[in-house]
Amino acid sequence: MERPIAYDKLAREDRFVRMRAREVARLKLEQGLPPFPDLASREAIRERVHGILVGELQAMEGAGRSVCDFPDAPWEFTLDMARQVWDESRHVEIYLRLLEHLDGHAGEFPETTILWRCACAEDAAARVAGVNRGLEGLACDVFNQLVHIARRIGDPILERAVEFVLADEITHVRMGSKWLTRLTEGDPERRRRAIEFQETIDERFNLGGMRRTGDPEAVPVSVATDVRRQAGFTEEEIERLLRTTQRSPVY
Ligand SMILES: [Fe+2]
Ligand SMILES: [Fe+2]
Repeated sequence: MERPIAYDKLAREDRFVRMRAREVARLKLEQGLPPFPDLASREAIRERVHGILVGELQAMEGAGRSVCDFPDAPWEFTLDMARQVWDESRHVEIYLRLLEHLDGHAGEFPETTILWRCACAEDAAARVAGVNRGLEGLACDVFNQLVHIARRIGDPILERAVEFVLADEITHVRMGSKWLTRLTEGDPERRRRAIEFQETIDERFNLGGMRRTGDPEAVPVSVATDVRRQAGFTEEEIERLLRTTQRSPVY
């Protein structure tokens, strides 16, 4: 099938700067900065919110791509992906405004394209496993932590806005679980490959062992076990995630 949009051809206004994640990390380390914003200051929160904004943009584009890429998928799959485009476009608007609320602007930090690259997986089952369960599972962790921090610093706008988005992300992860199961029914090999793809993403984002459970104030990125349960992750998966977060580095 013809793939009209290549990895590096996402439409953006000139103000957006695209860079590979490893290049961003290298430049930051060179300047003595942490490779991932730690949420300890308003500036760090702004940078994280910018990262989320471009993630939402790519999530919208990725779900839109899934509407077009799999014409033979069940109709309900296409409908779920279309619904996700709608949700993500709303998230883009919310995060654009949150960025303004934090005195930032779009294009202030570089855009990496990790989410979009995962959204280009050829198999629909791998795509929902990697994007909806892997990356949006991570989004649940990050948003849950951001809600806690917003509450502590007394920013009800940030707190409530992110909480609304989190509710949607939980449904996106559940959607991923549903379609991973339905699309691979009777094909354990396809299921295994899709889950493997998700696990490479989970491992890539373990952030050098920085992800932990516990006090969301005290860790760089927490694993939100309660939210992940709501999103349909099994105890075994949560356990595995916690184990891998103690291992290999992110970049
Ligand atoms: Fe989203
Ligand atoms: Fe989402």
